[in-house]
Amino acid sequence: MEKKLFDGGAGDAQFKTKLGVIWATLGSAVGLGSIWRFPAEAQENGGGAFLLVYLACVLVLGIPVMLAETAIGRAGRADSVGSYKALAPKTRWWLAGALGVVSSYLIISFYMVVAGWTFEYLWDSITGDLYAGVSGESLQMMENTFHTRMENFICSDIDPLISTWIMIVINIGVLMMGVQKGIERASNVLMPLLFALLLIFCVYALTLPGAGDGLKFFFHPDFSKVTWGVAANALGQTFFSLSLGTGILITYASYYPKSTNLMSTSMTVSLLTTLVAVMMGMIIFPTVFSFNLDLESLRGTTLVFVTLPEVFAQMPLAKYWSILFFTLLLVAALTSTISISEVSILFVQKRFKKSRRASTLIMMCPLFVISALCSLSFGSLSDFKIFGLTIFNFLDTFATNWVLPVCAFCAVLFIGWFAPKGTFRNQVTNDGTVATRLFPAVNFIVRWIAPPLILLILISSVIK
Ligand code: ALA
Repeated sequence: MEKKLFDGGAGDAQFKTKLGVIWATLGSAVGLGSIWRFPAEAQENGGGAFLLVYLACVLVLGIPVMLAETAIGRAGRADSVGSYKALAPKTRWWLAGALGVVSSYLIISFYMVVAGWTFEYLWDSITGDLYAGVSGESLQMMENTFHTRMENFICSDIDPLISTWIMIVINIGVLMMGVQKGIERASNVLMPLLFALLLIFCVYALTLPGAGDGLKFFFHPDFSKVTWGVAANALGQTFFSLSLGTGILITYASYYPKSTNLMSTSMTVSLLTTLVAVMMGMIIFPTVFSFNLDLESLRGTTLVFVTLPEVFAQMPLAKYWSILFFTLLLVAALTSTISISEVSILFVQKRFKKSRRASTLIMMCPLFVISALCSLSFGSLSDFKIFGLTIFNFLDTFATNWVLPVCAFCAVLFIGWFAPKGTFRNQVTNDGTVATRLFPAVNFIVRWIAPPLILLILISSVIK
């Protein structure tokens, strides 16, 4: 029998307003994934070829998977394990929710490190250290300066470690305050500001001389570069940037009010997140080509941290643009780290009946060690490899390209075939009160297209 909307379950915390739901979900989705990871992935996977496959993944898989996961969360009204348990008691489906807890934890481990870099760059922008000595330098020298600075910073042991730990402490503070106060309020104000700022940088980058070559690299797909490997990376990036396959949306949707329209929320969030990623491409690649930066020598992970300071250095009031950007990037990272951490915290809170404070400490404190290992993998631990990858890269690749898709696969399979009859329809149509003409198409994708397509991409990339 289908569970009625909102009887029981978590039910003790809710986002207040319709806009609050959108901004908080968007706050979770838009983060380092779209702003830092997307340009790096596009650079390493052939520019336009990657963009094309990524956009196809968002439309064909991202939006339907988002609907599937939000439907599970709002129908189950609990943490990611509890939601599966509520909808399919006495079965093993809760393992799919547990996989979400695992994948979110793997991601937060290395994500905190990059969030720490953002903190450091904000701090250096405020003190002016980031731009010390670059005025009057040629573009080439400036590139060397920013490049060397970034490499020296991440390869040193202590500084990035301290920044990472500071980010963990900030997260613990916000997470202890709970859902509405911490997450919703911050997102309501800061997300719109982030969009406005990206728009300004986009206009600036597009007016640089030679910007057209960068646009060509980013928008012109070279089909010979579309391989199964690129498809797997694009799929992983789609899930990473939309916060899918991690239990995040199951957890957040358990806080959605009854009136939330899942279809319009999923579409708005997916499209705006994708817009941020595309805008970042339109900022980074025109800049790289206009300033003649050496794409080959730039490590993907450092692309944004080298390119953007160079853009700011060309603009009047460089320091203030830089402070504004890194503040917003930090906030975007924070609204995401909060949502990623919330998965395991709510899990401990609900499954083991712990207080909010205890659950936060139980799940966040081990990060002081695990994230430290990720941070050190650029420095002292750089020779320690797992399957030929550093700890940071291993966690990133393993979680993003493998665990996330498997977890998303379970969600679509469950809601499409195994959840109590009518669950998906009732959630998407709010028990028949919202007309959604797209439901049959989405339902078809969730049942027939998404599961085999995700499997195909996973299996093909292994074979190749
Ligand atoms: N969706 C979040 C991000 O992309 C995890 O940063």
